[in-house]
Amino acid sequence: MNKIWSSQIQGPKTLDLSRELRFRDDRKEFFVKSLGLLTGMTVVDLGCGPGTLTRKLAKWLGNESKIIGIDRDDIFIDYAKNKALEQGFTNIEYLNGNIMNIPLESDSVDACTSHTVIEHVPNYDFLLEQKRICKSGGIVSVMSARPEKAIKSLPSSAPQISEREKELWEPINQAWLKKDQERGVGSYAIEPSQFPHLFEQLGFVDIEIDSIALPVVIDNSSITFEERLLMVEYERQQAIDCLVVGLNQLEQEYEHAIELELLINNRFDKRKEMVMNNQKIWDFQIHILLIARGRKP
Ligand SMILES: C[S@@+](CC[C@H](N)C(=O)[O-])C[C@H]1O[C@@H](n2cnc3c(N)ncnc32)[C@H](O)[C@@H]1O
Repeated sequence: MNKIWSSQIQGPKTLDLSRELRFRDDRKEFFVKSLGLLTGMTVVDLGCGPGTLTRKLAKWLGNESKIIGIDRDDIFIDYAKNKALEQGFTNIEYLNGNIMNIPLESDSVDACTSHTVIEHVPNYDFLLEQKRICKSGGIVSVMSARPEKAIKSLPSSAPQISEREKELWEPINQAWLKKDQERGVGSYAIEPSQFPHLFEQLGFVDIEIDSIALPVVIDNSSITFEERLLMVEYERQQAIDCLVVGLNQLEQEYEHAIELELLINNRFDKRKEMVMNNQKIWDFQIHILLIARGRKP
């Protein structure tokens, strides 16, 4: 059973909840246009993880379309299948497979896309394999967001990570960094101009670079009280999920795990209280997503 990504790198909730906030329904028009998608297409989501994007595309493109999510991590595929079933989707298929050797026929799909995957695999071969499965005229797109390029605001009025919490994270973070380097996470990240050049080298046409800024701002006035509470809960669940995956990096049981979980929960309890008191803090993050796409001649 392959569960390397979900148990060692990013857990299902970390990915799913953060992607829910990125692929919001009010951004549908942008994403559908920028990825070159149309209703009725068969679209493949490579390295689909917990399947957030797969479900969004299935919803946005409707039942005449078919969306296929592929990942090699069994935990993600099970999670994605369950969510699609729970939400009643009939136009999604999930395949457990290697995206460098896609288990689909040549010239069989209308479009391929992926979100934050190209940074982790040999880029040229990844795009070449997608070109193989696309029909003539098919669209291949990639979405790339580097966490280190995000704009982050953490004013002093926001609940801060205490010195004790930092101290308890230290051994986890050190082990994690070392293991991520050994696993080659992010080791295929490329300089932005390389995206269109790669598409050119592979003989794609109609190459386009696009981008969108994705703000996650709890205190925006357009966000309802219930949505604010939900956003804090999403962030709490992501932090706890991050702790669970972080603990997997250590060779032995971590004696401070419970204390660390309490400190994380304290932080989010305080943030929740601020929402309850309608106190605006303006702690936020803005992710910049680069989208590159090309058409198979
Ligand atoms: C950063 S995660 C992104 C997941 C998802 N696209 C999202 O944004 O939530 C990278 C994903 O690529 C998958 N992956 C990496 N290499 C793979 C390979 N060779 N075959 C299949 N999946 C792969 C991992 O299992 C993981 O789910």
